[in-house]
Amino acid sequence: MIFETVVSTVSADGKPHLAPMGVRYRGDDVILMPFKPSATYDNIVGTGHAVLNLTTDVRVFAGCVTGRRDWPLVPAERIPGMRLQAALNHVELRLVEERADEQRPVLRMARVHAARHGDFAGFNRAQAAVIEGAVLVSRLHMLPAEKVREEIAYLQIAIDKTAGPDEHEAWRWLRSAIASHQAAMAVVRDATAIQKQAQKQTPEQKS
Ligand SMILES: Cc1cc2nc3c(=O)[nH]c(=O)nc-3n(C[C@H](O)[C@H](O)[C@H](O)COP(=O)(O)O)c2cc1C
Repeated sequence: MIFETVVSTVSADGKPHLAPMGVRYRGDDVILMPFKPSATYDNIVGTGHAVLNLTTDVRVFAGCVTGRRDWPLVPAERIPGMRLQAALNHVELRLVEERADEQRPVLRMARVHAARHGDFAGFNRAQAAVIEGAVLVSRLHMLPAEKVREEIAYLQIAIDKTAGPDEHEAWRWLRSAIASHQAAMAVVRDATAIQKQAQKQTPEQKS
């Protein structure tokens, strides 16, 4: 099973970084698979530590994939690092093994410390829809526009039926990022069509 979390790391020069990340649990250990290149990978390998944040504040997921990474953090308790203030639970981790891979290394992390800060209120469909939407936004560059449109239309149902103000805000950020991406792609398409048309013209037509 994969669980969607927010991983906080700190760079070698002390700059905190947040990224949504799917994790697997193997016994007491936590398995992370950050893509390369990524700040999360560099920071974990550079410092040997990361913090796993479990939160239902889906604005953090949507925010991170739409350029809003500045979420309140507080210092971790037992490792050099920061945790998300909005975390219901956080787990402080130490890197114990790296399985190298050109694209997606596997990092096995041991638990150093865990703490609980809030209660889980239950599943909310709009929160799940925002997580799905954030995954779509993080992959916009490789997904066909039609697939994105269809999936967003389906996820919109859960937003309309079950969202609160935080989920609506997160959803607006995602929809706006998708609209900007699609507008940029339309400009590229138009420019390519004009270029092709110009290449087809005879020398007389061009003069
Ligand atoms: C729900 C969710 C899960 C994600 N899981 C992963 C993951 O397991 N590995 C990964 O590299 N990126 C994952 N991403 C994408 C990263 O959050 C995003 O690409 C991020 O910017 C990583 O690069 P960075 O560390 O340089 O910020 C996920 C995104 C979302 C929204």
